[in-house]
Amino acid sequence: MQQLRVGVSDSVFPNLDPAREVLSKIGAELRVAGEPTAEAILGVAADADALLVTYAKITAEMIRQMKRCRIISRFGIGVDNVDIAAATNAGIVVTKVPDYCMDEVSDHAMALLLSLVRKIPFSSARAHAGRWEMPAVVPIHRLRGTVLGLVGFGRIPQLVAPKAKSFALRVVTFDPYIPQTVLDQAGVERVEFDQLVRMSDYISIHTPLLPETHHLFNADVFRKMKPGAVIVNTSRGPVVDETALAQALDAGQLAGAALDVLEKEPPSGSRLFGRDNVILTPHTAFYSVEALEELQTKCASDVARVLSGEKPVYPVKMG
Ligand SMILES: NC(=O)c1ccc[n+]([C@@H]2O[C@H](COP(=O)([O-])OP(=O)(O)OC[C@H]3O[C@@H](n4cnc5c(N)ncnc54)[C@H](O)[C@@H]3O)[C@@H](O)[C@H]2O)c1
Repeated sequence: MQQLRVGVSDSVFPNLDPAREVLSKIGAELRVAGEPTAEAILGVAADADALLVTYAKITAEMIRQMKRCRIISRFGIGVDNVDIAAATNAGIVVTKVPDYCMDEVSDHAMALLLSLVRKIPFSSARAHAGRWEMPAVVPIHRLRGTVLGLVGFGRIPQLVAPKAKSFALRVVTFDPYIPQTVLDQAGVERVEFDQLVRMSDYISIHTPLLPETHHLFNADVFRKMKPGAVIVNTSRGPVVDETALAQALDAGQLAGAALDVLEKEPPSGSRLFGRDNVILTPHTAFYSVEALEELQTKCASDVARVLSGEKPVYPVKMG
């Protein structure tokens, strides 16, 4: 029997040991692309039985050249970088890991929100520079009784809600597809998007990146937000129009933004850089030692299942 080969298009992890360990059990060899270009990825993927993907774009043209591939498995939750229709048409199953970092991302969203509202990075930087002064950090408003709008009410924001409530925030959400029973159980109010935008003191974004959510936050939306409101984005960068966000911050429409994701990652310069009221983290909301181990193990286990003729646990459905 021919040796099983698993290509890795790209990885941001310190190592791939957990994935390698799972795949060694079915005798599969892991081959990592030297750089995330189509050419280098095809170098390891064209004759591979499976492909593990992090952020690299896997296009229809690349999929056409992957003659042996039976599964493309994403190290993560969002699968917007893989052409799912092309893969499905080629008989390749696409999988993701939908449930490995809910604690981490919901903690991160709350940490970003609290840091922004309490102006922690700004006041810490000043204190380190010997500026032990209060006037620069005013005003800071009390959290209790203010409104947090959650855009999307999937797995992650369902964990943000109780954390926010423990800070006495009123939590509302816009999610056109979530059943009412889920909201009732969480004690979270359903509102329309426009209502959420107008009533929230803080907005935390948790939608998948879809054609309908691309630039969902744009100049029009920023104009409708409460003066002094802030946004937190731990979902996907392109959900926010960054040029419009920079303009809204310049115009003082928004008091701040905290972003774990940007339109282009890694960014090559941004109008959001260097601002006291913008907190940036480098797409690390998902990360903890434990989450990373779970992610790699679950992702590679679906590859092992499919290559052994079994059904995957986490197939991505089209549409
Ligand atoms: N920053 C990170 O490290 C990181 C880690 C994990 C996930 N994410 C991102 O976080 C986001 C949320 O993840 P999740 O696990 O909660 O997702 P999920 O799949 O559990 O839920 C997504 C929710 O979005 C809703 N939705 C779909 N279209 C919508 C729209 N137009 N408006 C409002 N809601 C809409 C769906 O009904 C669903 O309830 C995803 O974009 C994912 O890619 C980021």
